[in-house]
Amino acid sequence: MASFTNPAIAIEIFSFFSYLLLVLSLENETNFVYNGFHQAKLNLDGASVVRSNGILAITNDTSKILGHAFYPTPLQFTKFTPGSHNKSTAVNFSTNFIFSIVPKYPGFGGHGLTFVLSSKYPLEGCLPSQYLGLPNVTSNPQSSARMLAIEFDAIQNVDMQDINDNHVGIDISSLVSNISEPAAYYNTNDENNSKYTTIILKSGDSLQAWIDYDSLQELLNVSLSPLHMGRPPRPLISFPIDLSQVLDEYMYIGFSASTGLLSPAHNVHGWSFRIGGRAQDLDPTELPTLSSSSNEVVHQKGFKVGMTFTSVTLFILVIFAGVYILRRTKNKDEILEDWEIEYGARKFKYSELHAATRGFREKNFIGSGGFGSVYRGVVPSTGIEVAVKRISNNSRQGIREFVAEITSTGRLRHRNLVQLHGWCRRKDDLLLVYDYVPNGSLNKLLFDNENQKKKLSWEERYKILNDVAQALLYLHEECQQMVVHRDLKPSNILIDEGLNAKLGDFGLARTYEHGHNPDTTNIVGTLGYMAPELTRTGRATESTDVYSYGTLLLEVACGRRPIEPYKNGGEIVLVDWARKQHCAGDITRVVDPTLDN
Ligand SMILES: *[C@@H]1O[C@H](CO)[C@@H](O)[C@H](O)[C@H]1NC(C)=O
Ligand SMILES: *[C@@H]1O[C@H](CO)[C@@H](O)[C@H](O)[C@H]1NC(C)=O
Ligand SMILES: *[C@@H]1O[C@H](CO)[C@@H](O)[C@H](O)[C@H]1NC(C)=O
Repeated sequence: MASFTNPAIAIEIFSFFSYLLLVLSLENETNFVYNGFHQAKLNLDGASVVRSNGILAITNDTSKILGHAFYPTPLQFTKFTPGSHNKSTAVNFSTNFIFSIVPKYPGFGGHGLTFVLSSKYPLEGCLPSQYLGLPNVTSNPQSSARMLAIEFDAIQNVDMQDINDNHVGIDISSLVSNISEPAAYYNTNDENNSKYTTIILKSGDSLQAWIDYDSLQELLNVSLSPLHMGRPPRPLISFPIDLSQVLDEYMYIGFSASTGLLSPAHNVHGWSFRIGGRAQDLDPTELPTLSSSSNEVVHQKGFKVGMTFTSVTLFILVIFAGVYILRRTKNKDEILEDWEIEYGARKFKYSELHAATRGFREKNFIGSGGFGSVYRGVVPSTGIEVAVKRISNNSRQGIREFVAEITSTGRLRHRNLVQLHGWCRRKDDLLLVYDYVPNGSLNKLLFDNENQKKKLSWEERYKILNDVAQALLYLHEECQQMVVHRDLKPSNILIDEGLNAKLGDFGLARTYEHGHNPDTTNIVGTLGYMAPELTRTGRATESTDVYSYGTLLLEVACGRRPIEPYKNGGEIVLVDWARKQHCAGDITRVVDPTLDN
């Protein structure tokens, strides 16, 4: 303790320990993981900021800005190997990060982002308009700074001999890449198979990158993949190099980007890094994401700023951008339709449906109605149980109904509607593929005499009617276009294991824009369910559907069909009979007798 009373000695001891700590920390394996950058103490300069959502924004979408974000201390990248003629070797290192390049005008322009190892920090002589926010060492060969950059570049700079406007490259002490490849990832590990999938850097989507160096193999690997795909089986670039010849002993590591005129925002969402082993893979689910709402704000701002610019060039630029946005939106619509076709109602191969139903054999037949026969089957490729409706080719209206059904039901999604999976057309054969609903139709449950034991209770009937009402509400009011079903009846209501009702058979359905007056069409429907005015006006509306629903209510409560010709005169038509009994104050007489107990 005595020595500490002497300040000089105390300071000496203190500085010795700090030195030791510094050395130890440098000697130690560096290993960090940032899921978002709230906790990271990086050196930020230029436009770089950490946003409240944790995203490290290297730049925002203002034009002509640059930004850097660097780990605060330099890390040891080469080590002196004793007894080998002063030769030093590079260490193994590995990094994984998730980034996004979000252009101000979607699809239009995007300078790149780089991961950099630099012997100097701050970086000197960087331009905001180009060179990825890095010093242009090429034009300044005397520069003593050493640099290794991995660029994810979305423009083609001809001066730098860029291969295209969407590439990944390794730049060693120069912005002319030593090697570069179009941005993509390999699908297989097989070196003879060059099959790969392109990645659009400036799509605005989050992308994941891996950079690994192995000093024994003397290989620097770079991989890129869409966010949730994980590390590709094989790196995009595997570049042989001895980094001990390239790197200083201590190097700063970080990110750099500049926007130039075409101003994309460069974001890093997460970063892990390790010296001496493989960096921990980031978990995409733990990372901050760009919210779509903030994207929208960005677009609006872009337009306002665009309008105030007076420069002719910029004016033209804005017009270009507008065109691009329009095209992009159009593309998006197309993409949406693709998506719907892919996941909503897709086109099946005839052979697939033939196999699914074992050649439409009798054993798979589950019923007929609504212009065709229905077969049960299992789609071989997915194992999903489906019902395949084969529309009889002698039905003259066949094609028309087929088209109506696809267009009206392909987009509809409701738990009380039978989901359409897809269709197939082969010569005169028209096939629709639906969810298979196991319990069959309400018609079967109510009137199939073999099913007497399973007679539906009132609670069950009530639930089914309620489900059908939900489906109708959706069709009439909640979905994008109003859909009039036009053929509501028990045989079109399917019941699943949980006794949930699903409305199906849209063969007669018509879609209307909301608020439009439906046109007169051919009168269709089923006798007994058709509203009286329909036969006179020929106009199918929500009201005519509701009339059918009313008939259905009576039918389910009374346990009899709406028209039973063999009944006594007054009872033939259910609606008339029920009304008469109601007027006579004896409505309970019409209730299904089996519901009594
Ligand atoms: C973008 O960065 C520049 C430079 O740091 C700054 O002046 C500007 O306010 C930023 N804009 C936005 C929208 O964050
Ligand atoms: C790739 O091709 C070479 C030469 O044709 C062959 O020797 C090697 O086995 C192939 N590799 C794979 C994984 O198929
Ligand atoms: C780099 O990629 C090559 C080729 O796929 C592979 O053999 C090597 O192990 C990889 N090295 C590192 C450090 O990932």
